[in-house]
Amino acid sequence: MDAFADVEDSGLDDDGRAAFARDVIAGLSETPKTLPCKWLYDVRGSALFEEITHLDEYYPTRTELALLGEIAPDLGDALPAGAWVIEFGSGSSRKSDLFLDALDDLGGYVPIDVAADFLEAAAEAIARRLPNLKVRPVTADFTADIDLPVPLVQEMAAAPRVGFFPGSTIGNFEPALAVEFLMRKRRLLGDGSFMVVGVDLKKDRDILIAAYDDAKGVTADFNLNLIDRINRELDGGIDRADFAHKVRYDEDEGRIEMHLESQRDQTVRVDGHAFDFRRGETIHTENSYKYGLDDFARVAAASGWRSGRHWTDAKGLFSIHLLAAD
Ligand code: AVJ
Repeated sequence: MDAFADVEDSGLDDDGRAAFARDVIAGLSETPKTLPCKWLYDVRGSALFEEITHLDEYYPTRTELALLGEIAPDLGDALPAGAWVIEFGSGSSRKSDLFLDALDDLGGYVPIDVAADFLEAAAEAIARRLPNLKVRPVTADFTADIDLPVPLVQEMAAAPRVGFFPGSTIGNFEPALAVEFLMRKRRLLGDGSFMVVGVDLKKDRDILIAAYDDAKGVTADFNLNLIDRINRELDGGIDRADFAHKVRYDEDEGRIEMHLESQRDQTVRVDGHAFDFRRGETIHTENSYKYGLDDFARVAAASGWRSGRHWTDAKGLFSIHLLAAD
């Protein structure tokens, strides 16, 4: 396969492929075996995730969207006029639209994402809908310690800054890393800034399991797509039927875990390396932490933010937290 076809399939350049190979080989060499969840989101994985957000069982997206719509007036009252909105991850334009519409007299909008093509598309869609809004996309890994480009910092000048981090993406981090993430954003946004974070709540185990193990098997496909990716991009020789999607809720940790479970004793070959699996052994592919309202207030406090208001839907499924840096 030539390099261009490779980029077409996966969205990865040679460095991306090398990083994927390194993570797979390192993760399958660990005990227990793991893979970083970011590799779930290639073009196909992102399309499957979008499909997940429409499933009956997957309550977070629709609940957060409805809640954002409901609290828009409150957000408008609580947040300063003329603010620049800095969004971490340009995932769902439906959420960005609701959020931007809630604020008065926006200064500008800075969506940040690693995926330059998704980012451009999102920025263009917003610019078409709000032609007078200053839209300044930044291509960067927002989980790292990033700096904003100097011209942008100059353009924002002393305008208030409001961070927006919806989708309970914060749930993908171990709690200690969630604290570190928020600390970095506190530093990036500066004194007097605000941060609005969508956080999935702890709840009945059956609701959680169903949301990550849906009847149609879309989440299973999303998880097993990692096997297809390894085969496609790393010359893996894994039979998809030899692994199964497994979901666990670890109540003590407050997290949903996704695993790929080996259906038999087998040796799997990837990129010239061999990995032994026992039947029932798993590759841990994702964590999705759930927080009580107090749990999240503690995370916010530990990261140097003051907890302002928070809102939840009537069923207590999902929460939106307003944090302040003062
Ligand atoms: C995109 C991380 C918020 O944890 O609910 C959905 C990912 N994984 N179904 C989540 C996901 C399986 C999702 N986040």
